[in-house]
Amino acid sequence: MEEWIKKLFVERADIFLKLLNERWARTEELVNGMLKVLGSFGVSSGNLLDLCCGNGRISVYMAKKGFKTVGVDISRAFIEDANKKAKEHKVSDKTRFVEGDVRRLKEILKEVSEPFDVIVNAWTSIGYFPQEEELNIFKQARELSKEGAILFIAETAHTEFFSIKFTPTSYSEIDNFVILENRSYDPKTAQLNTTWSFYKKHGNNLKFIDKVDFQLHIYSLNELVGLLEKAGWETIAYYGSLMNLQPMNPLTSLNVIAKAI
Ligand SMILES: C[S@@+](CC[C@H](N)C(=O)[O-])C[C@H]1O[C@@H](n2cnc3c(N)ncnc32)[C@H](O)[C@@H]1O
Repeated sequence: MEEWIKKLFVERADIFLKLLNERWARTEELVNGMLKVLGSFGVSSGNLLDLCCGNGRISVYMAKKGFKTVGVDISRAFIEDANKKAKEHKVSDKTRFVEGDVRRLKEILKEVSEPFDVIVNAWTSIGYFPQEEELNIFKQARELSKEGAILFIAETAHTEFFSIKFTPTSYSEIDNFVILENRSYDPKTAQLNTTWSFYKKHGNNLKFIDKVDFQLHIYSLNELVGLLEKAGWETIAYYGSLMNLQPMNPLTSLNVIAKAI
Protein backbone atom coordinates (compact mmCIF):
# COMPACT_ATOMS: atom_id res chain seq x y z
CA MET A 1 0.00 0.00 0.00
CA GLU A 2 1.29 3.51 -0.85
CA GLU A 3 2.69 5.30 2.19
CA TRP A 4 0.32 8.28 1.98
CA ILE A 5 -2.74 6.02 1.62
CA LYS A 6 -1.65 4.08 4.70
CA LYS A 7 -1.04 7.25 6.67
CA LEU A 8 -4.18 9.20 5.68
CA PHE A 9 -6.78 6.45 5.53
CA VAL A 10 -5.43 3.77 7.87
CA GLU A 11 -3.09 5.21 10.52
CA ARG A 12 -4.94 8.56 10.81
CA ALA A 13 -8.36 7.12 9.98
CA ASP A 14 -9.57 8.87 13.16
CA ILE A 15 -9.01 12.28 11.52
CA PHE A 16 -10.16 11.44 7.98
CA LEU A 17 -13.31 9.88 9.43
CA LYS A 18 -14.34 13.36 10.58
CA LEU A 19 -14.15 14.57 6.96
CA LEU A 20 -16.10 11.54 5.74
CA ASN A 21 -18.77 12.11 8.39
CA GLU A 22 -19.18 15.74 7.30
CA ARG A 23 -20.19 14.54 3.82
CA TRP A 24 -23.09 12.42 5.08
CA ALA A 25 -25.32 15.48 5.41
CA ARG A 26 -25.25 16.12 1.65
CA THR A 27 -25.43 12.48 0.55
CA GLU A 28 -29.20 12.01 0.34
CA GLU A 29 -29.39 14.88 -2.15
CA LEU A 30 -26.55 13.37 -4.18
CA VAL A 31 -28.21 9.95 -4.18
CA ASN A 32 -31.54 11.48 -5.26
CA GLY A 33 -29.76 13.01 -8.26
CA MET A 34 -28.18 9.65 -9.07
CA LEU A 35 -31.60 7.97 -8.84
CA LYS A 36 -33.01 10.48 -11.33
CA VAL A 37 -30.25 9.62 -13.79
CA LEU A 38 -30.73 5.89 -13.21
CA GLY A 39 -34.49 6.29 -13.66
CA SER A 40 -33.88 7.79 -17.11
CA PHE A 41 -32.16 4.48 -18.01
CA GLY A 42 -34.98 2.42 -16.51
CA VAL A 43 -32.89 1.35 -13.47
CA SER A 44 -34.64 1.67 -10.11
CA SER A 45 -33.16 -1.25 -8.18
CA GLY A 46 -30.42 -3.87 -8.47
CA ASN A 47 -26.86 -4.47 -7.32
CA LEU A 48 -24.54 -1.54 -6.70
CA LEU A 49 -20.77 -1.56 -6.19
CA ASP A 50 -19.26 1.39 -4.31
CA LEU A 51 -15.53 1.61 -5.12
CA CYS A 52 -13.42 3.20 -2.34
CA CYS A 53 -16.62 3.50 -0.29
CA GLY A 54 -15.13 5.26 2.76
CA ASN A 55 -17.56 4.84 5.67
CA GLY A 56 -20.35 3.89 3.32
CA ARG A 57 -22.49 6.99 2.81
CA ILE A 58 -23.43 6.26 -0.84
CA SER A 59 -23.97 2.53 -0.20
CA VAL A 60 -26.15 3.18 2.85
CA TYR A 61 -28.36 5.79 1.14
CA MET A 62 -28.67 3.71 -2.04
CA ALA A 63 -29.64 0.70 0.12
CA LYS A 64 -32.30 2.88 1.74
CA LYS A 65 -33.63 3.52 -1.78
CA GLY A 66 -33.89 -0.20 -2.53
CA PHE A 67 -30.49 -1.19 -3.96
CA LYS A 68 -28.39 -4.12 -2.73
CA THR A 69 -24.96 -2.64 -2.18
CA VAL A 70 -21.35 -3.79 -1.84
CA GLY A 71 -18.74 -1.27 -0.69
CA VAL A 72 -14.98 -1.85 -0.93
CA ASP A 73 -12.41 0.20 0.96
CA ILE A 74 -8.82 -0.31 2.02
CA SER A 75 -9.34 1.11 5.52
CA ARG A 76 -10.56 -1.30 8.20
CA ALA A 77 -11.68 1.62 10.39
CA PHE A 78 -13.92 2.99 7.60
CA ILE A 79 -15.37 -0.46 6.87
CA GLU A 80 -16.17 -0.93 10.57
CA ASP A 81 -17.81 2.48 10.71
CA ALA A 82 -19.76 1.74 7.49
CA ASN A 83 -21.19 -1.42 9.10
CA LYS A 84 -22.14 0.62 12.18
CA LYS A 85 -23.83 3.25 10.02
CA ALA A 86 -25.71 0.57 8.02
CA LYS A 87 -27.07 -0.78 11.31
CA GLU A 88 -28.13 2.70 12.48
CA HIS A 89 -29.92 3.26 9.16
CA LYS A 90 -31.47 -0.23 9.35
CA VAL A 91 -30.02 -1.44 6.04
CA SER A 92 -27.54 -4.08 7.28
CA ASP A 93 -29.42 -6.73 5.31
CA LYS A 94 -28.99 -4.78 2.05
CA THR A 95 -25.36 -3.69 2.46
CA ARG A 96 -22.06 -5.52 2.52
CA PHE A 97 -18.75 -3.81 3.23
CA VAL A 98 -15.47 -5.45 2.30
CA GLU A 99 -11.99 -4.42 3.39
CA GLY A 100 -9.58 -4.60 0.46
CA ASP A 101 -7.62 -2.91 -2.30
CA VAL A 102 -9.73 -2.03 -5.37
CA ARG A 103 -6.73 -2.93 -7.53
CA ARG A 104 -7.55 -6.56 -6.63
CA LEU A 105 -11.29 -6.09 -7.07
CA LYS A 106 -12.16 -9.42 -8.72
CA GLU A 107 -10.22 -11.40 -6.14
CA ILE A 108 -11.81 -9.52 -3.24
CA LEU A 109 -15.29 -10.01 -4.66
CA LYS A 110 -14.87 -13.59 -5.85
CA GLU A 111 -17.79 -14.68 -3.67
CA VAL A 112 -20.17 -12.14 -5.22
CA SER A 113 -22.11 -14.08 -7.79
CA GLU A 114 -24.56 -11.54 -9.24
CA PRO A 115 -23.25 -8.91 -11.69
CA PHE A 116 -23.60 -5.23 -10.80
CA ASP A 117 -26.16 -2.85 -12.31
CA VAL A 118 -24.51 0.30 -10.94
CA ILE A 119 -20.90 1.20 -10.08
CA VAL A 120 -20.01 4.31 -8.08
CA ASN A 121 -16.66 5.99 -7.54
CA ALA A 122 -17.24 9.15 -5.51
CA TRP A 123 -15.35 12.14 -4.17
CA THR A 124 -12.04 12.07 -6.06
CA SER A 125 -11.40 8.40 -5.43
CA ILE A 126 -9.31 8.21 -8.60
CA GLY A 127 -5.88 9.54 -9.56
CA TYR A 128 -4.14 7.68 -6.72
CA PHE A 129 -2.27 5.13 -8.83
CA PRO A 130 -0.30 4.85 -12.09
CA GLN A 131 -2.55 4.97 -15.17
CA GLU A 132 -2.32 1.26 -16.01
CA GLU A 133 -3.43 0.34 -12.47
CA GLU A 134 -6.34 2.79 -12.64
CA LEU A 135 -7.33 1.36 -16.02
CA ASN A 136 -7.24 -2.10 -14.50
CA ILE A 137 -9.62 -1.08 -11.68
CA PHE A 138 -12.26 0.07 -14.18
CA LYS A 139 -11.67 -3.00 -16.38
CA GLN A 140 -12.33 -5.26 -13.40
CA ALA A 141 -15.41 -3.20 -12.48
CA ARG A 142 -16.62 -3.67 -16.07
CA GLU A 143 -16.08 -7.44 -15.90
CA LEU A 144 -18.13 -7.58 -12.71
CA SER A 145 -21.00 -5.61 -14.30
CA LYS A 146 -23.93 -6.36 -16.57
CA GLU A 147 -23.91 -5.04 -20.11
CA GLY A 148 -25.60 -1.63 -19.96
CA ALA A 149 -24.63 -1.12 -16.30
CA ILE A 150 -24.22 2.52 -15.27
CA LEU A 151 -21.00 3.92 -13.81
CA PHE A 152 -20.88 7.19 -11.87
CA ILE A 153 -17.59 8.99 -11.32
CA ALA A 154 -19.01 11.54 -8.89
CA GLU A 155 -17.78 14.80 -7.32
CA THR A 156 -14.25 14.54 -8.63
CA ALA A 157 -11.48 17.11 -9.04
CA HIS A 158 -10.48 18.01 -12.61
CA THR A 159 -7.73 19.94 -14.37
CA GLU A 160 -9.83 22.91 -15.52
CA PHE A 161 -10.61 23.83 -11.93
CA PHE A 162 -6.92 23.92 -11.04
CA SER A 163 -6.01 26.03 -14.06
CA ILE A 164 -8.58 28.66 -13.01
CA LYS A 165 -8.84 28.54 -9.25
CA PHE A 166 -5.63 27.24 -7.76
CA THR A 167 -5.25 28.15 -4.09
CA PRO A 168 -1.87 27.20 -2.59
CA THR A 169 -3.09 27.22 1.02
CA SER A 170 -6.34 26.73 2.88
CA TYR A 171 -7.60 26.37 6.41
CA SER A 172 -10.52 24.38 7.71
CA GLU A 173 -11.93 23.48 11.09
CA ILE A 174 -13.75 20.33 11.96
CA ASP A 175 -14.87 19.55 15.51
CA ASN A 176 -11.91 20.69 17.60
CA PHE A 177 -9.39 20.02 14.82
CA VAL A 178 -7.74 22.45 12.42
CA ILE A 179 -6.48 21.31 9.03
CA LEU A 180 -3.92 23.45 7.20
CA GLU A 181 -3.52 22.56 3.55
CA ASN A 182 -0.51 23.46 1.39
CA ARG A 183 -0.68 22.60 -2.28
CA SER A 184 1.39 22.79 -5.43
CA TYR A 185 0.07 21.88 -8.85
CA ASP A 186 2.08 21.10 -11.98
CA PRO A 187 -0.13 21.60 -15.07
CA LYS A 188 2.40 19.75 -17.24
CA THR A 189 1.95 16.47 -15.37
CA ALA A 190 -1.44 17.34 -13.81
CA GLN A 191 0.02 16.27 -10.48
CA LEU A 192 -1.29 17.85 -7.31
CA ASN A 193 1.01 17.66 -4.28
CA THR A 194 -0.69 18.38 -0.98
CA THR A 195 0.45 18.54 2.61
CA TRP A 196 -2.20 18.38 5.30
CA SER A 197 -1.11 19.43 8.80
CA PHE A 198 -3.50 18.52 11.60
CA TYR A 199 -3.75 20.50 14.83
CA LYS A 200 -5.98 20.14 17.87
CA LYS A 201 -7.48 23.29 19.41
CA HIS A 202 -6.70 23.95 23.07
CA GLY A 203 -8.37 27.28 23.92
CA ASN A 204 -6.53 29.82 21.76
CA ASN A 205 -3.63 27.48 21.13
CA LEU A 206 -3.08 24.82 18.51
CA LYS A 207 -1.28 21.59 19.28
CA PHE A 208 0.35 19.88 16.30
CA ILE A 209 -1.00 16.35 15.84
CA ASP A 210 0.31 14.98 12.54
CA LYS A 211 1.16 15.71 8.93
CA VAL A 212 0.52 13.84 5.71
CA ASP A 213 1.81 14.47 2.18
CA PHE A 214 -0.07 13.08 -0.77
CA GLN A 215 0.09 13.16 -4.55
CA LEU A 216 -2.91 12.93 -6.84
CA HIS A 217 -3.11 12.79 -10.59
CA ILE A 218 -5.87 15.20 -11.62
CA TYR A 219 -7.87 14.05 -14.65
CA SER A 220 -9.28 16.20 -17.41
CA LEU A 221 -12.72 15.21 -18.68
CA ASN A 222 -11.16 14.12 -21.98
CA GLU A 223 -8.51 11.97 -20.29
CA LEU A 224 -11.05 10.30 -18.02
CA VAL A 225 -13.39 9.57 -20.93
CA GLY A 226 -10.45 7.95 -22.76
CA LEU A 227 -9.49 5.83 -19.76
CA LEU A 228 -13.07 4.64 -19.24
CA GLU A 229 -13.45 3.80 -22.92
CA LYS A 230 -10.34 1.60 -22.79
CA ALA A 231 -11.87 -0.16 -19.78
CA GLY A 232 -15.17 -0.87 -21.57
CA TRP A 233 -17.25 2.13 -20.41
CA GLU A 234 -18.81 4.60 -22.85
CA THR A 235 -19.35 8.08 -21.44
CA ILE A 236 -22.91 9.19 -22.04
CA ALA A 237 -23.17 12.39 -19.98
CA TYR A 238 -21.23 14.67 -17.68
CA TYR A 239 -22.41 17.28 -15.21
CA GLY A 240 -21.13 19.87 -12.75
CA SER A 241 -23.36 18.42 -10.08
CA LEU A 242 -25.43 15.28 -9.83
CA MET A 243 -27.70 16.92 -7.27
CA ASN A 244 -29.31 19.26 -9.81
CA LEU A 245 -27.75 18.02 -13.06
CA GLN A 246 -26.13 21.43 -13.54
CA PRO A 247 -23.81 21.56 -16.59
CA MET A 248 -20.12 21.20 -15.86
CA ASN A 249 -17.94 24.32 -15.91
CA PRO A 250 -14.35 24.95 -14.73
CA LEU A 251 -15.56 25.84 -11.22
CA THR A 252 -17.82 22.84 -10.65
CA SER A 253 -16.69 19.33 -9.82
CA LEU A 254 -16.58 16.62 -12.48
CA ASN A 255 -19.36 14.02 -12.63
CA VAL A 256 -19.23 11.46 -15.39
CA ILE A 257 -21.91 8.93 -16.28
CA ALA A 258 -20.85 5.99 -18.40
CA LYS A 259 -22.45 2.79 -19.68
CA ALA A 260 -20.92 -0.69 -19.82
CA ILE A 261 -20.40 -1.62 -23.49
C1 LIG B 1 -11.79 10.76 -0.63
S1 LIG B 1 -12.28 9.26 0.13
C2 LIG B 1 -13.84 8.99 -0.61
C3 LIG B 1 -14.72 8.04 0.19
C4 LIG B 1 -16.11 7.78 -0.38
N1 LIG B 1 -16.10 7.39 -1.77
C5 LIG B 1 -17.03 8.97 -0.17
O1 LIG B 1 -17.42 9.58 -1.19
O2 LIG B 1 -17.36 9.28 0.97
C6 LIG B 1 -11.23 8.08 -0.66
C7 LIG B 1 -11.37 6.66 -0.14
O3 LIG B 1 -10.58 5.77 -0.93
C8 LIG B 1 -10.12 4.73 -0.10
N2 LIG B 1 -8.99 4.07 -0.79
C9 LIG B 1 -7.80 4.61 -1.12
N3 LIG B 1 -7.06 3.72 -1.79
C10 LIG B 1 -7.79 2.59 -1.90
C11 LIG B 1 -7.58 1.31 -2.48
N4 LIG B 1 -6.44 1.02 -3.11
N5 LIG B 1 -8.54 0.39 -2.41
C12 LIG B 1 -9.72 0.65 -1.75
N6 LIG B 1 -9.98 1.85 -1.18
C13 LIG B 1 -9.03 2.80 -1.26
C14 LIG B 1 -9.77 5.45 1.19
O4 LIG B 1 -9.65 4.59 2.29
C15 LIG B 1 -10.93 6.45 1.30
O5 LIG B 1 -12.00 5.92 2.03
